[in-house]
Amino acid sequence: MRILSGVQPSGKLHLGNYFGAIRQFVELQHKGEALYFIANLHALNSVRDGRLAYELTLETAAAFLALGLDANKAILFRQSDILELGELYWILGTLVPMSHLERAHSYKDKKARGLSADLGLFAYPVLMAADILIYNSDWVPVGKDQIQHLEFCRDWATKFNVTYVPGYDAANPNGENGSPPGIFKLPEAFVREETSVLLGTDGQKMSKSYGNTLELFGEEKEIKKKMMSIKTDSSPIEAPKPTQNSALFELLKAMAPPSEWPEIEASWRAGGLGYGAYKKKLVDYFHLCFDEPRKRFGELMGDKAELERILVEGAQKARACAAPIIQKMRAAVGISRGG
Ligand code: ADP
Ligand code: TRP
Repeated sequence: MRILSGVQPSGKLHLGNYFGAIRQFVELQHKGEALYFIANLHALNSVRDGRLAYELTLETAAAFLALGLDANKAILFRQSDILELGELYWILGTLVPMSHLERAHSYKDKKARGLSADLGLFAYPVLMAADILIYNSDWVPVGKDQIQHLEFCRDWATKFNVTYVPGYDAANPNGENGSPPGIFKLPEAFVREETSVLLGTDGQKMSKSYGNTLELFGEEKEIKKKMMSIKTDSSPIEAPKPTQNSALFELLKAMAPPSEWPEIEASWRAGGLGYGAYKKKLVDYFHLCFDEPRKRFGELMGDKAELERILVEGAQKARACAAPIIQKMRAAVGISRGG
């Protein structure tokens, strides 16, 4: 099974990114051949400062490694190092109905907010489909917000196969009934239903766009300050505390060691401990979970040449995975001579 996913290096990584995405990626590296990339081309839609874009790309790669990704097991690479991607992006684009892109959330949401969108954002799902199809990916772990993009990807792969593979039967995409298989495999979204959305310091979804994040690799003092300022209600110390929509409760649940969680949950529901005490516990748990990764992150960021080496080596492996598919695709559309 080939597992593929990407993360945009579009800001400082926060606890929501870890518990909602990176942690699963790290776990999945043991379940198949995993390819993970830093989606730095996608991020250019929002990061328009070259230095920062480069720095965030390396930081995101360092974060993956510091948080447990083994570069000898999974393939970690930078999207822009796969030059063939541009070719596939264009070719898919020749088959993508405009009406699909007009329906895409990424574009529609921006338009709904009255902001003008660029071609890059409009065509974002096409590049994402190219990212997936170029490696014959089987499983694509994504958050729920990305499901629509996966559906488009399957549609466009089918359209390509129907157009360019004589005898291809869309009802039997893998050629089960003697019809030829497609050039592009139809990927499946691997949706992380079980992960709850982590709330930020203000009680809304933790997101860099809301300025309410707890950064994984931020300054220690700053993190502590932010944790102590997490919004809570006015329940007195002795009262049971509400669990619904409580950022603090969810964060404790995510970070407390399993052996301590039942006791915390019981005291939360019974009352007797104030929010300040829970916040202090949260700071301790953060250290417990992330002191090691934070140290490794610092070391990795201190040796950027080594990070570059890992990414370049990863790109070589990823390009080798892509090569047979690209070759077939080029021949099928007639930009190279067929077999
Ligand atoms: P942000 O909202 O900060 O811009 P991204 O959209 O770049 O974050 O998200 C990157 C990944 O992290 C996605 O897979 C997303 O599902 C996950 N993620 C982001 N915020 C949260 C959150 N608050 N809780 C759980 N998962 C999250
Ligand atoms: N669009 C994804 C996000 O914003 C990142 C991404 C780009 C991706 N290409 C991908 C994810 C391919 C999975 C597969 O989170």
